[in-house]
Amino acid sequence: MAVYFHGESRNFHLSNDRISYILTVLRNGHLGHLYFGKKLPDRESYNYLLEEALRPMTSNPYEGDRKFSLEHCLQEFPVYGSSDYREPAVEIREGNGSRITDPRFDSYRIYSGKPRLEGLPATYTECPGEAETLEITLRDSVTNVCFILSFTVFRDYDAVARSCKICNNGTEPVHIERIMSFTLDLDDNYYDWIQFSGAWARERFPEKHRLHTGIQSITSARGHSGHMHNPFLILKRPSADEHQGEVFGFSLIYSGNFIIQAEVDTYGTSRIQMGINPFQFSWFLKPGETFTAPEGIATYSSKGMNGLSGIFHQLYRERLIRGIWRDKERPVLINNWEATYFDFDEERLIDIAKKAHSAGIELFVLDDGWFGCRRDDTQGLGDWTPNKNILPDGIAGLSRRIEEECGMKFGLWFEPEMVNKKSVLYETHPDWILQAPYRKSCHGRHQYVLDFSRKDVVDYIYSSMAAVIKESRISYIKWDMNRSITECYSKAYPPEQQGEIFHRYILGVYDLYDRLTTEFPHILFESCASGGGRFDPGMMFYAPQGWTSDDTDAVERLKIQYGTSYCYPLNSMGAHVSIIPNHQLNRSTPLSTRFNTALFGVFGYEMDLTRLSDREFMEIKSQVEFVKEYRTLIHSGTFYRLLSPFENNEAAWMVVSHDKTEAITGYYKILNDVNAGFKRLKLAGLDESFQYTIEGKGIFSGAELMSAGLVINNPPEQDKTASDFRSEIFLLKSQK
Ligand code: GLA
Repeated sequence: MAVYFHGESRNFHLSNDRISYILTVLRNGHLGHLYFGKKLPDRESYNYLLEEALRPMTSNPYEGDRKFSLEHCLQEFPVYGSSDYREPAVEIREGNGSRITDPRFDSYRIYSGKPRLEGLPATYTECPGEAETLEITLRDSVTNVCFILSFTVFRDYDAVARSCKICNNGTEPVHIERIMSFTLDLDDNYYDWIQFSGAWARERFPEKHRLHTGIQSITSARGHSGHMHNPFLILKRPSADEHQGEVFGFSLIYSGNFIIQAEVDTYGTSRIQMGINPFQFSWFLKPGETFTAPEGIATYSSKGMNGLSGIFHQLYRERLIRGIWRDKERPVLINNWEATYFDFDEERLIDIAKKAHSAGIELFVLDDGWFGCRRDDTQGLGDWTPNKNILPDGIAGLSRRIEEECGMKFGLWFEPEMVNKKSVLYETHPDWILQAPYRKSCHGRHQYVLDFSRKDVVDYIYSSMAAVIKESRISYIKWDMNRSITECYSKAYPPEQQGEIFHRYILGVYDLYDRLTTEFPHILFESCASGGGRFDPGMMFYAPQGWTSDDTDAVERLKIQYGTSYCYPLNSMGAHVSIIPNHQLNRSTPLSTRFNTALFGVFGYEMDLTRLSDREFMEIKSQVEFVKEYRTLIHSGTFYRLLSPFENNEAAWMVVSHDKTEAITGYYKILNDVNAGFKRLKLAGLDESFQYTIEGKGIFSGAELMSAGLVINNPPEQDKTASDFRSEIFLLKSQK
């Protein structure tokens, strides 16, 4: 891995053993892009890739020269003005109203490692020699505003991380109206665009279309990354599939309003951009101040979408998730939400916990309803003091009992960013919510959004959460966020700074996460936003796992987990077995299928175990044993999607250990069909020469399993009860 600089051509070449990213300083001092993809040999100049041609109706920066135009250059940090008409990476508004910026090359430095982004989540390095960073400073000479772009290339991950700092070194304030974290100009448009979209309870379903001329984008304007679109995009060659072909991935490490867009011009080039959504955004930057944009990651794989996902999984698992929980086995948990909702008292919780412990479950999580006057969702949010009517000795007493009497660890639910009007907090501080002056504010699930752009609000919530944590034995926190922001206005900021509030809000959320994870490093955090409404890499930096969706139906979960897996590793996806009929869909699926689906995530239960039959309870006991035996493989191995539930009446996926001696495959048949033929399921990621034993099936070489496939009888002869929603797990073991 290295960053090369060639003085004469002014080419910068970042590469590791597999990828190259090459940029150059253009004639006018702006940054040009030359190449991103499969590794290229280093050479003095790749400037021949630049296009210079005389075209009618083109503007040109240099008098007398009709060939050089920014409209026809691939660029790294494009601006409006100076002859480019596409969407820019940055837009700065000066006091005189001008929005023209001219960011010219000023200096560069290359160093080992990677900088931290102040107050923002980002990938990191741990050991020397893992990554190199190229930092380029561009300067606008009129305003003296500088742009520090950093590009990091990793030794072990085929990804480029980019971020940008804007420093106002001038004497006048400016407004930043737009700042993209990553711009990548591709030299053609022959790609399928795959976005991950949905809604509550059906998050991150892949949607594909051919890249077309014009602008296409996904965004959030809700104050969180959202259920609707995930800050992640795949561009793949139309012939590429899960296992082969060229694929690019774009992921923004940010949890607030975002945009990812492609602008395809009529010359067939594609400008990919991602960053903070410019909608309602504006940042007032005074002289001497700096603004840091979130980090964007771009990856490249020539091994199809599974190859691409493998890069993201490894990078995020190893160099985004932090703290002791990064490398520790995640506990099997039981959460009381779908078991009791708000209808519980201490003894009912203790009963569930005792039963769970006897099934081998390790962590008991108390969900919503333990605090203030909260007995339903109309009241209590904001008052993080235990309700002594239901928990006589508070969380301190309950958590002690859970540990001592039930032998389990204890976890607790919070929704720190919200307040109900019926609460002591709102009565005391009605001005602490986001709300425009003299205007009404919408509620969502009867709740209002606290103004986390204010430090005093974040300080207050920190103290009230820390007080509960300090007096109790808390090993896990589920941090929920159950409504989107609208009417984004803070009474604490002057008019010229109101465009900052959405971003300042999310900085406040990150600040609170930072304080809590620093102060209580032993606590495992799980992020949640009505299920997967803020399931993004920004959250993952603080909370190693996220509640993937409120939908716990096994069949729907196949789709949700399948879609989520394109970017996010299995050890980040909370997945629970719940009761039937399912509470979201009223569908009944076999306990085995609920298990076989949740197994490929961070596993837990969401049901009242005291109400199960003995047979069901025994089944759960052996499920928990199985999880404990295989969770390390599932959470650290390489994941492959095999059959998509979006395209088939079946789904399949598998995980292979690093040394390829072990693997686990999940196969799911959604609806039963009559008189069906045998199926050959083609496995992936195995060693062709290894002999794998599959219990109940036989011994097969990796080559057979990957090329001829694993034969699946449909339905299995031995199972005369086989019906809809059937599934099987296959364990593969080899002696090498
Ligand atoms: C959200 C979460 C659920 C549960 C409820 C509690 O909907 O996604 O898991 O915690 O809130 O109110």
